[in-house]
Amino acid sequence: MSVFDRLAKLYAIGGGLGANRRGYSAAEDDAHRLAAEWMRSAGLEPEVDGAGNLIGVRGEARVWTGSHLDSVPNGGKFDGALGVVAGIEAAARLPEAPLAVVAFRAEETGPMGSKRLEQLPDAFVELHIEQGPVLERAGEPLGVVTAIAGQARGAVVFSGRADHAGTTPMAARSDALVEAARFVLHVRECAREPAVATVGAIEVEPNAANVVPARVTVAVDARAPDAAGLDELVTAIGFEPSSRLDPVAMSGLPFEVLSELLPDAPRLVSGAGHDAMVFAAAGVPTGMLFVRSLNGGVSHCPEELSSEDDIELAVAVLTNALARLTTVD
Ligand code: GLV
Ligand code: MN
Ligand code: MN
Repeated sequence: MSVFDRLAKLYAIGGGLGANRRGYSAAEDDAHRLAAEWMRSAGLEPEVDGAGNLIGVRGEARVWTGSHLDSVPNGGKFDGALGVVAGIEAAARLPEAPLAVVAFRAEETGPMGSKRLEQLPDAFVELHIEQGPVLERAGEPLGVVTAIAGQARGAVVFSGRADHAGTTPMAARSDALVEAARFVLHVRECAREPAVATVGAIEVEPNAANVVPARVTVAVDARAPDAAGLDELVTAIGFEPSSRLDPVAMSGLPFEVLSELLPDAPRLVSGAGHDAMVFAAAGVPTGMLFVRSLNGGVSHCPEELSSEDDIELAVAVLTNALARLTTVD
């Protein structure tokens, strides 16, 4: 089955609009089961670690490739899934190579699986869609990632007082959602590009049309390509991050091999987070290859698109990179 056909199979799993395989859901489990079958047919022995990561191993696997099979709600067909399916395809094309292909758990909500990985390899390569417009605008199918922006996430809670929506005078209200709305605008104003900041989730309690909101929890996602910029952004917004990933540079043999294989391809800094960040932060030599996103680079939505030709090129480069990395002493 082709890489494209496998992506279609994974896409169908959760039902609904787009990809719906949230981390640690039954749909993500189903995707892992399917990937384990494909791993076996590529000559990899599937193992599951304590975090639920699926690792298809062949031989003394010191070189790893892969990505994640969870998705955001109503996500795209390629985010994460491509890196896993392409890794399995590359492993099938290199039947003698000692390597591992991994499907990490719950990247979108963490990354949770890669952070809890029990063992680290000597080298990690991740293929991913760009999720932005740079390659499409440049007319280039592939790009080499040089660094990944840092990110900080956290929740801010606003407390008010539940009251009757019809009888409470406007001046007598303590409306948590009104305060939260001001904060959302403040978050947007704090982000000076290349830093970016987003409020993408809000919980309103009790969440009823005729009750003045008593409590609102706002999720903040702040990102910047350098650590000082991220610190500044977090301070300006004024929130306490519950998770933080520092910016990381790609380095070592995986990065050098990708750079040699694609000497003229654009070099990109990834604004999106990836499992590769965990490896790079731990000092593991790590490289990332991007494939062109079409439709203006939209991602985290069903309109996410890459072409079959570009994906085939990317799989060929990943295969060559793994061939080189697995024959280096
Ligand atoms: C992962 O997709 C992220 O949020 O960057
Ligand atoms: Mn991803
Ligand atoms: Mn994603």
